[in-house]
Amino acid sequence: MSTVVAIDGPAGAGKSTVARLLADRMGYAYVNTGSLYRALALSAKRAGIDPGALTSEFLSGLKLEFRGADLYCNGELLGAELRAPDIAQGASMVSRQKIVRDYLLPVQRDAARTQWIVMEGRDIGTVIFPDAKCKFFVTATPEERARRRMAQSGEIAAGADFEAILAEIKERDERDSTRKIAPLKPADDALIVDTTGLSIEEVVEKLAKFCRQAQ
Ligand code: DC
Repeated sequence: MSTVVAIDGPAGAGKSTVARLLADRMGYAYVNTGSLYRALALSAKRAGIDPGALTSEFLSGLKLEFRGADLYCNGELLGAELRAPDIAQGASMVSRQKIVRDYLLPVQRDAARTQWIVMEGRDIGTVIFPDAKCKFFVTATPEERARRRMAQSGEIAAGADFEAILAEIKERDERDSTRKIAPLKPADDALIVDTTGLSIEEVVEKLAKFCRQAQ
């Protein structure tokens, strides 16, 4: 049986950076599941269809697979195009659909079949790998997350200011945590890590220590 470290939490909490560094430190592969929802949003955009109303016909024409940390859709390597602001919003609409979550469940479980992984998302510890021994819910205040996003700038629409980014973060949190299926919430047995005011190194060390003890 392979080992999964599940890292869930809201957007902008520092999850990706921490998950990647933890994977390096543990010698595990790193898998970002948000990119699956983003890939569906991108595919819907390219096909000119509503990301909030995907059909089984549409999904059955797409083959998503991780090769290591890289995500391929029908053989095409997806990269920077997944980080665009409209794709982030589209992914949030995509992620509310049961048909989508059912479709992506085996894709995510398959990623852990052949390798030890740190998997990052919103429902990894609650739905995808409820039996994972190491589960973390990484979070930070909305203000802190907005500040970090300003500093990164990659996903910010041109001309957006702090207030606009804060509002967008709160809107996305609300949508992700109130949806009926697989809402964003910590698993009962997850360690909750508030990264507000902590350095990345402090967070990674805290998680690595927990993992080493759990092994
Ligand atoms: O982590 P991210 O920003 O790349 O995620 C994009 C969207 O996908 C986000 O709105 C939440 C959703 N998502 C999800 O519902 N479940 C996951 N396991 C990962 C992401």
